[in-house]
Amino acid sequence: MTQPTLSQLENRDAFIARHIGSAAPDIAAMLAAIGAPSVDALINETVPAAIRLEKPLPIAAATPEHVALAELKTIAAKNQIKRSLIGMGYYDTLTPAVILRNVMENPGWYTAYTPYQAEIAQGRLEALLNWQQMICDLTGLSLANASLLDEATAAAEAMTMARRVSKSKSNVFFVDAACFPQTIDVVKTRAEYFGFELLIAPAAQAADQDAFGVLLQYPNVSGEIADYSTLIAAAKARGACVAVATDLMALVLLKSPGELGADIAFGSGQRFGVPMGFGGPHAAFFATHEANARSMAGRIIGVSKDVAGGTALRMALQTREQHIRREKANSNICTSQVLLANMAGMYAVYHGPEGLKTIASRIHRIAALFAVSLKQAGFTIKTGAFFDSFDIATGDKTAALFAAADAAGYNLRQVSADSLGVSFDETSSPDDLAALFKVFGISADIAALDAAQPSAIPAGLQRSSAFLTHPVFNTHHTEHEMLRYLKKLQNKDLALDHSMISLGSCTMKLNATSEMIPVTWPEFGRIHPFAPREQVSGYLDMIEGLADYLRAVTGFPAICMQPNSGAQGEYAGLVAIRRYHAARGDAHRDICLIPKSAHGTNPATAQMCGLEVVVVACDDNGNVDVADLKLKIAQHKDKLAALMITYPSTHGVFEEAVKEICALVHAAGGQVYMDGANLNAQVGLTSPATIGADVSHMNLHKTFCIPHGGGGPGMGPIGLAAHLAPFMADHAVAATGAEGRAHAGQGAVSAAPFGSASILPISWMYIRMMGGAGLKQATEIAILNANYVASQLKDHYPVLYVGSQGRVAHECILDIRPIKAATGISEVDIAKRLMDYGFHAPTMSFPVAGTIMVEPTESEPKAELDRFIAAMIAIRNEIRRIEAGELPADNNPLKNAPHTQADVISREWTRPYDRDEAVFPLPYVRDNKFWPTVNRIDDVYGDRNLFCACVPMEEYAG
Ligand SMILES: Cc1ncc(COP(=O)(O)O)c(C=O)c1O
Repeated sequence: MTQPTLSQLENRDAFIARHIGSAAPDIAAMLAAIGAPSVDALINETVPAAIRLEKPLPIAAATPEHVALAELKTIAAKNQIKRSLIGMGYYDTLTPAVILRNVMENPGWYTAYTPYQAEIAQGRLEALLNWQQMICDLTGLSLANASLLDEATAAAEAMTMARRVSKSKSNVFFVDAACFPQTIDVVKTRAEYFGFELLIAPAAQAADQDAFGVLLQYPNVSGEIADYSTLIAAAKARGACVAVATDLMALVLLKSPGELGADIAFGSGQRFGVPMGFGGPHAAFFATHEANARSMAGRIIGVSKDVAGGTALRMALQTREQHIRREKANSNICTSQVLLANMAGMYAVYHGPEGLKTIASRIHRIAALFAVSLKQAGFTIKTGAFFDSFDIATGDKTAALFAAADAAGYNLRQVSADSLGVSFDETSSPDDLAALFKVFGISADIAALDAAQPSAIPAGLQRSSAFLTHPVFNTHHTEHEMLRYLKKLQNKDLALDHSMISLGSCTMKLNATSEMIPVTWPEFGRIHPFAPREQVSGYLDMIEGLADYLRAVTGFPAICMQPNSGAQGEYAGLVAIRRYHAARGDAHRDICLIPKSAHGTNPATAQMCGLEVVVVACDDNGNVDVADLKLKIAQHKDKLAALMITYPSTHGVFEEAVKEICALVHAAGGQVYMDGANLNAQVGLTSPATIGADVSHMNLHKTFCIPHGGGGPGMGPIGLAAHLAPFMADHAVAATGAEGRAHAGQGAVSAAPFGSASILPISWMYIRMMGGAGLKQATEIAILNANYVASQLKDHYPVLYVGSQGRVAHECILDIRPIKAATGISEVDIAKRLMDYGFHAPTMSFPVAGTIMVEPTESEPKAELDRFIAAMIAIRNEIRRIEAGELPADNNPLKNAPHTQADVISREWTRPYDRDEAVFPLPYVRDNKFWPTVNRIDDVYGDRNLFCACVPMEEYAG
């Protein structure tokens, strides 16, 4: 027998088989089941020939996991970890190891989806409630949301919310000139298309200004803290809604913005244990008065009851969000920063109020000691009152001091030609002080200075109000207790570490461990986004490498790595389109065509760009109705700005007319924006550029393996055709792109120049380990798996849309409406019953109400698909018993789902089916049971009795 060659034994493709769920025999079995002779034949039947790529992806061959990790380690090592005292919203922090390992590095937390199926998400919902409570306590406001994307976009959301709640007729939004420059940059971009007039001036001027909103920063970019209460009162008296950008660690010691009179407080939760990561991901917080609940952006977690009367948590007030309100939504925020909010909330749970006071007081003491020493040495401190940051007048020594600090391993804030700034953080120590003394030529006795207990916080600004008094922040302070609390919550949640999450349009594929490992390397974690470029060449190399991969995948020459989510990518793309039109004298083009089937973020985003949404109909096969498109183009020809289209469509088919559709839009002078949510069905087979799009986002948290984090983080970089490239976002503080694009006033869309840079290694690793051929294979098997599920379920649930040759793309829509008409059983009942079978529901009622959309992805093995199929068929058989009158329509396993342990151990069991059937409906369930911890949740009760903070302990006792 011939032995394999060494090259074969090296098995360089090994990761492909780890990522793709099924091996050759199972692939053959699935092909046989769907009646396709081969994978190639299936793809030929599914993907229109006109859009197929002619050549393989120009991406190198696959690399084994350990080799890719070693390569990335070499790249990461090019980053220089210096002590960054730059501040401006990013501070070094100590992630408690128990949180690092058990949340950040734990698939039980990071592979979950946004908690739409609340009954199997009570753990992270409780964690988010802790975050909301912490934010309310520290900001002194009564309602907080469950995170926004970053501090700068939170400022932009504050501006639009101010417009909604303010009664002022003014069109002016006042911005304190001492806000962080990146915040001002993002607010400017946003204000432009809302048509708001920005007034950027010293804070004090806000008192005399007619404005619908005022934005202040406390502490500001120079670290200054001022008592803004009189100023806020004056601005409010003139009808302004006042928002205050603030800092969580400072608020531990400072009077809260709520106590100063602010209507809104927001900022970044980064320094509560989340690494700087070259800019993200970090959770932004956002708080306001409860009366503004319906005007606030982002998701809000609320307390409700389940049908058994027990306390149960879920997302509140969802009717505000874009999936319901579309272009009338408060914002386009969909994916936010749940994992990072949970980490920051847990940081407060672990340290508690006393621990936080110690940490914040130490930071302040070190800052105050440095200020005192500088003053003694003859320097002028330009900042009056401060918490952790101040500016120093350094005169003609500025450059020399900056260089000396750099040589000693410290990055200072470059304020101006004659001043430098410092910001201290949780990691700062007396050793740092000693090193800085050397840099500034100071000789001082730290202990002697400390004896005087210097403070730079005026008595009137010191916090006197209690915070974090709820027991959850006063219990889990030992590592054992914390570990067990985290495990308790994790056990309540169903994530990918338990079973398939077949959410259509969400692409919940494998998030491989090797992809995740680099995220927590200090070479990536401890880098400030505004560190000098020469210190971050590892990051720049990795990002450019990933950009090259994404160029290959999309066919676009330019990649903008700034947007922090798909919806932000949409925004960045539409802004580029608007700027392109304006540059050609076509600024009047303000119509955006959007097919009826589009995701809610599309119209919500179009509206944020000042575009008027015109809906295009879909035909009976789920395709864009070309006749209607032609009509709408003819009607709006001169004003057509763009078409937003998702491909393959959200209806789960590769529409054949897509090239014609793009050509029609181009002929009318419009641009084509492609929503890249379904890119997992394109990679290696076709591409947005081949299809005819001009710009497209890529959800790296779908197609490119960034885990969903229970509701974020994500990354939504965009690819742009050459003519749009000059109009992509840049950044006011740091250069962007490999070539170091300077700020040319295109305006930022995120706080950080490369968005959530520290999760980009995940996508880099995925592509490196799969190689071009592996990526194509993944797409093919994603399509095969969806067709297999469709073929097995079609006799039980009609498949709503198929392509011209009877195939679906990478997902399929199952129609539940006939079942509902016949039995009253809805898609919600099926979703809840799936929990008893150990599965998360597919996507519900999107894009068609009364349906479910299944996307298995390439990573699910046939065995898991078969379990899901068996569950769906068993549920259909339960429904048949209801149809046959064997089970009552209102008292059956579906209507009573999900079933809890309490249900089946209760003495009383009067249901017309037995306990086994309720909780072990198929044999496989017994072996791997997932127990929902609450019964079906009453959403209406929760919204009517809005309560969005930690539950009083008595309720747990009950
Ligand atoms: C089709 C489609 N477009 C846009 C989005 C928004 O993406 P993100 O949640 O990353 O903002 C989604 C999210 O699921 C989607 O499915």
